[in-house]
Amino acid sequence: MTDDARPTDGPPAGAAPRLVRTRAELRSALATGTDDRRAVVMTMGALHDGHLALVRAARELADQVVVTIFVNPLQFGPGEDLDRYPRDLDGDLSLLATAGADVVFAPTPDVVYPDGDPVVRVSAGAIGQVLEGAARPGHLDGVLTVVLKLLHLVRPGVALFGQKDAQQLMAVRRMVHDLDVAVDVVAVPTERDADGLALSSRNAYLSAAERTRALALSRAVRAAEQAAEVDGTAAAVRAAAHEVLDGADVVVEYAVLVDPLTAQEVPPDHTGAAVFAVAARVGSTRLIDNALLRLGRQSLESA
Ligand code: PAF
Repeated sequence: MTDDARPTDGPPAGAAPRLVRTRAELRSALATGTDDRRAVVMTMGALHDGHLALVRAARELADQVVVTIFVNPLQFGPGEDLDRYPRDLDGDLSLLATAGADVVFAPTPDVVYPDGDPVVRVSAGAIGQVLEGAARPGHLDGVLTVVLKLLHLVRPGVALFGQKDAQQLMAVRRMVHDLDVAVDVVAVPTERDADGLALSSRNAYLSAAERTRALALSRAVRAAEQAAEVDGTAAAVRAAAHEVLDGADVVVEYAVLVDPLTAQEVPPDHTGAAVFAVAARVGSTRLIDNALLRLGRQSLESA
């Protein structure tokens, strides 16, 4: 996007965003903008084009774009990759300069959680018990807790999240609705490499051979999308995706068709919006992918 297309005076393209590390520095940086014209993009760093697409979308919607970079310990379970999660603040700042972020809030855990682990946390409820929540108990509660804290600290009018983390998006939308949080949530489509692999910071863990095997996830997603377009029934979508995954060299944790409002499996006669979501292990790396589908139109047309 060019500077001219920006709503107001964002930084010139390529200008370094203002890096703030403390709550006081953040408050001072926010003072140059207005809350309802501010967008936030929350990340855990190790940025890639998927994150930059979020920042560019934020640039279109707001005058002040704040990117948070914080590897949130609360959303990692014991034995997960908290310690080895990729961290590259300098690289992230260079990328964010190209995408047009104004402010980067990169706090340490003691800034976000000054009294240690919070006693009171947000619960994702039933959404947090299935899929990612079943595989990673407490994960979505940890996500929602930090998301709510960052919303309070950054006070944005709009918060952008990637469709790539479909269940996280569902949980955030539900929290904002159920707890009357005054922010608009905007979903941004998943960015993919040319071969279809959904961009993820965890792709960095994959060897070349594992990366090839990982394409089973995006192939399953594509098969699900095609079945939804051609046939339109939940059974056809499930069968098409499973046909891909059954022959793949990955360990599938789940491959399901769920309601985007509840994250619960849809019944066989479901019509309307549905999310096909897949999680699989490729070697020691756990990957997820999904597609937002619309079911039923085709079967109604042929009835
Ligand atoms: O999607 C992520 O990177 C994280 O879950 C988020 C939203 C930044 C919260 O830590």
